[in-house]
Amino acid sequence: MRTRGALGSRLNAWRKSSAFNPYWLSHRALKGSVASLAPAARGLLLDVGVAERPYAALFAPHVTHYIGLDYPPVLTDKQPALWQMLEQVRRSVDLFGDGRRLPFASASVDTVLATEVLEHVPDPERCVAEFHRVLRPGGRLLLTVPFQEPLHFLPQDYGRFTPGGLEHLLGQAGFAIERLEPRGNSTLAVGAAAAQWMMRRFAAIRVQSDGSVQNSSLRMAAISPAIALLQLVALGLSKGDKDGSQPLGYGVVAVRPD
Ligand SMILES: C[S@@+](CC[C@H](N)C(=O)[O-])C[C@H]1O[C@@H](n2cnc3c(N)ncnc32)[C@H](O)[C@@H]1O
Repeated sequence: MRTRGALGSRLNAWRKSSAFNPYWLSHRALKGSVASLAPAARGLLLDVGVAERPYAALFAPHVTHYIGLDYPPVLTDKQPALWQMLEQVRRSVDLFGDGRRLPFASASVDTVLATEVLEHVPDPERCVAEFHRVLRPGGRLLLTVPFQEPLHFLPQDYGRFTPGGLEHLLGQAGFAIERLEPRGNSTLAVGAAAAQWMMRRFAAIRVQSDGSVQNSSLRMAAISPAIALLQLVALGLSKGDKDGSQPLGYGVVAVRPD
C-alpha cells in the first residue's frame, strides 16, 4: 500500500511539472525569467513576498545571505485556500513584514528581489520607494511583474504592468533601469491562456473566492492530453515569434545609483 502511495505521489509530482499541468507554460516562462535575473544578484539578498521560497536555489550561487520576507495579507480573509497557503508560507519565510515598511535599516541590503509581488500591493510606489531606501548605493532591484496573466490571489490583485509604467514607477523612486525584458512572447501568452481557459471551461466545478478553481478529477483527466498537446505546440510555435506586444510579463534589473 505504501509503495502504491509513494508511486502515486511521484506520478502526481511528475504530472504537476509536465505539460499536463495547465500552468506549465506560464510557470516555465516565469522560472526562465527569474533565472536570467539571478546572476545580477549579490551579497545579502532580501526576497520580498517570498511565499514558498520557489527561487532560492537559483540565487544560491550568487549571494551570501538569502532572507525571505512575507506579509500575510490574508489575516482578515477567511478563505480556506489562502489559509492553507499561509501555512505553507509560515514554513518558508524568515520574517513577516510589509514591503511598504521594511524592517531593515537604510542602505543595508545588496539585492532586493520581488517576483510577482507588486501587482498585489495597492500602492506599489510605496514598495519601490522602500526597496530604494534599504538598498546600498550600487545595489540592485530584481523584479518580475505580470502583464498577460489571469486574475489570481483575489481580492489582492490590483494591476498589471507595461514597460512605460515600470520606467515611470522605478524612475520616480530614483532607480536606473539596467534591463527590462519581456517574459515570453504573444504565442506563449496565448498558449498559456488557452490551457488555463480549457481547465476553467471544461474541468472546473467551483470557482473559489481567491479566483482559483476546484476541478473535477475525472474531467481534468479527460482534457489533460489536449492541454498538454496545446502547450507543447504553443511552445514550439513560440520559438520563432518576435511579437512582444502581449508577453506574459516583464523581468527588470534596476540599480540604486551610487
Ligand atoms: C503571487 S505571490 C508570489 C510569491 C513568490 N514571490 C513567487 O514568485 O512565487 C505574491 C506574494 O506577495 C506577498 N505580498 C503581498 N503584499 C505584500 C506586501 N505588502 N509586502 C510583502 N509581501 C506581500 C503575498 O503574501 C504573496 O506571498
